Amino acid sequence: MPDTLPRLQQAHLQQLLAAYRDLMQHHGLDAIALYSGHSLPHYADDQHPEFQAAGHFIHWVPLWEAQHSWLIITADAKPRLMLHAPTDFWHLTPALPDEAWVSELDIELVNEPATPALTGNVALVGNVEALVESPVAAPHGHANPPALVAALDELRMHKSAYEIACLREANRLAVAGHEAARAAFAGAGAELDVQLAYLGASRQRESHVPYDNIVGLNEHAGVLHYQHYDLDAPAQRHSLLVDAGRRYRGYCADITRTAPGPDAPAPFADLISAMHQLKDSLVADIAPGVDYLELHRAMHHRLGEILVRHDLYRGTAEDCVERGVTRAFCPHGLGHSLGLQVHDVAGLKHPDGTPAPAPEDHPALRLTRTLTPGMVVTIEPGLYFIPMLLDPLRDTRAPINWTLVEQLLPCGGIRIEDNVAVTATGFDNLTP
Ligand code: GLY
Ligand code: MN
Ligand code: MN
Repeated sequence: MPDTLPRLQQAHLQQLLAAYRDLMQHHGLDAIALYSGHSLPHYADDQHPEFQAAGHFIHWVPLWEAQHSWLIITADAKPRLMLHAPTDFWHLTPALPDEAWVSELDIELVNEPATPALTGNVALVGNVEALVESPVAAPHGHANPPALVAALDELRMHKSAYEIACLREANRLAVAGHEAARAAFAGAGAELDVQLAYLGASRQRESHVPYDNIVGLNEHAGVLHYQHYDLDAPAQRHSLLVDAGRRYRGYCADITRTAPGPDAPAPFADLISAMHQLKDSLVADIAPGVDYLELHRAMHHRLGEILVRHDLYRGTAEDCVERGVTRAFCPHGLGHSLGLQVHDVAGLKHPDGTPAPAPEDHPALRLTRTLTPGMVVTIEPGLYFIPMLLDPLRDTRAPINWTLVEQLLPCGGIRIEDNVAVTATGFDNLTP
C-alpha cells in the first residue's frame, strides 16, 4: 500500500461523513443505513455466484466482498459498522485489517446476519429488497428514497485524493497484466493463455476482476463484449484485443490495448498507431468545463479523419460522420465514469440528480456531463470491422473502400482505453 494512503483514506472518510450529515439534515433523516448486500445460491444448489458489495457501502470501507453487513451513519455518533464475520470451521473467519481507517468507525463483528435496531426517520440504502426472502428482517426505515440515492450517487462522481490514489494503483497493477498478455500472444498463446497470463501478472483471481476480461483474437476483437476464451490458438494470428482491469480496494481499472499479429495486413498496425494518437489527443483535451458529449462528437470527427487518411473512406471526414459511417465503425460511446463500479453511477444525470440521457443519435454513451475536477473517466475510442453494422452501408452510396474493409475484417477491430482524472487545470492520465 502506498505510504500516504492511510492518511488519505482517513481524510476521505471525514469528508464523506460531513457530506452524509449535510444530506441527512437536508432530507430530514436521523440515520442512513447502508446494506452491503448478499448473494443468493444458484437455483436448487448450495453454490453462490461471485458477490460484490453495494457501491455506497464500499465508498466507506474497502471490504468489497463483505456480505450481510451494515454501515449506519447518524448525526452525532461514530459511523457504526456491523460486519458479518461468521465463525465456522468451513471458512476462514473474516478479520479486520490492521489499517488506520478502522479507528474512524465503531465496529461490531457479527456472527449471524442481524438486523440493526434503528429508530426515527431512517433511509435504508442498498439491495434491502433481497432481505424479503431471507430469514433476517429488513430494519425499520424507507428503502432507497430516490432523491437521497441520487444525491449519494452524485457524491461518487467526484473522487477524493484517496480514491484517485486507489484508481492509479489499480491501473499500475492492470498494466502489468496487459504487458504479460501481449507477451503470451507473441508466444502464440490461445485466448485462454492470454487470459491466464493477464491474471497472473496482475495478481488476481478471475472471480475478483472488476468486469469479465475481454480477450479477443482475430474477429473476436470486433465483438465489443466478447465473453469466451478459446482454448486453441488460431492458425492465423491477425490481432489481439485485451480489455481488462484490476480492482484495488474496490476501485476499478478499465484498460484496453490492441496488438497486431504476425498475419495482420500491413494497414492494421498503422491504424492501431492512429488510434493511439486519437486516444492521446482526446485525453489531452480533458479539462474542467469540457462537455463530455462534445468530446464524444469530436472523437467521431477525428475518427472520420483517420478513415479518410487511411483510405477507408473516400470522401470528407464531415461527410463520413454525417452519413453515420463513423457510428458503424465505432458503435459505442467515448467512455464513462469510473470508480467503484466500472461503469460508475451518475453519468447520465445532471448534478441535481435529474436525468441527462444520451442523445438519440448516440444511445450507447454512458456519460453526458460537463467535466469538473475530481471526475475520473475512461477515454476509449474504437474502430471495428463488424459485418452486422457495416453490411447495411453496402447498399448506400457511401464511398467506403470495401476492398480494404474486406482485408481488415479478420482483424476484428481496435480499441485503446485509458483512465483519466480531471484536475483543477487539466488532466492526469492514471494509465501509465
Ligand atoms: N470494459 C468495458 C468498458 O470498457 O466499458
Ligand atoms: Mn474497457
Ligand atoms: Mn470502459
